[in-house]
Amino acid sequence: MDGSSAPAGAGTITQDWAGYRPEEHAVWRRLFDRQARALADRAAPEFLDGIAALRVSADGIPDFRRLNDVLDRATGWQIVAVPGLVPDAVFFGHLAQRRFPSTCFIRRPEQLDYIEAPDVFHDIFGHVPMLMNPVFGDYMQAYGQGGLKALGLGSLHHLARLYWYTVEFGLVRTPAGLRIYGSGIVSSHAESIYALDSDRPHRLAFDLMRIMRTNYRIDDVQETYFVIDDYDQLFAATRPDFTPYYAALARQPDIAPGALVPGDRPIAREARP
Ligand code: PHE
Ligand code: FE
Repeated sequence: MDGSSAPAGAGTITQDWAGYRPEEHAVWRRLFDRQARALADRAAPEFLDGIAALRVSADGIPDFRRLNDVLDRATGWQIVAVPGLVPDAVFFGHLAQRRFPSTCFIRRPEQLDYIEAPDVFHDIFGHVPMLMNPVFGDYMQAYGQGGLKALGLGSLHHLARLYWYTVEFGLVRTPAGLRIYGSGIVSSHAESIYALDSDRPHRLAFDLMRIMRTNYRIDDVQETYFVIDDYDQLFAATRPDFTPYYAALARQPDIAPGALVPGDRPIAREARP
């Protein structure tokens, strides 16, 4: 399929790649260089493989048309450009069709360490490499379908926590130790160090219902991370119909971001050299 001719739906725009200014490419370059160094022995192998296969590089902000050719051949995913945050139903509708909505703008040089809203570095560098992985790509599509269902059931506040603690802030066990696959971590310099190296946060074994009860913070590094064994575990755990899960969750209290509860299984952090 030719990605450029697929109907992208209402609210999408076109990335004006030729219109980026040199200063904007320079911001990408600085972010990329810093993260490439930080993530070489911290990011999940699937993330690093995705970056390499997509040839996302320090050259500058990538052209979505080129990435879409590679993505389409690998997993059938496409990037669609959007002006900013889109309504939940629109976002889930895109994911359900294997389209990932991405912003086009890049943060200003004084925002290298923190921005309030996702920019093209977070959306492309952070999210798109994992869409090259077949199992993770299927999980993201299923999440979109599940999001539409949760919206209809009034349970999006529960499901949204699953996205937060996996897609955005997930850790994975590997033979070499814990690794990062969450986009919110890989696109943040401070958190890509903190998530693996700090003694402060909890690192708990993945537990679907526990995650959907756990509040999260959007204004600071996470107090708790959830660790999957692999993406098959994640996909298998989320395959059942969530309707009875939501009914059960409605009767259970939320858990604070930094709290521990009975049944939690802390995952030992490998000593890092
Ligand atoms: N199986 C879930 C449901 O029935 C959908 C889902 C899939 C949710 C993958 C999250 C991730 O709602
Ligand atoms: Fe994100």
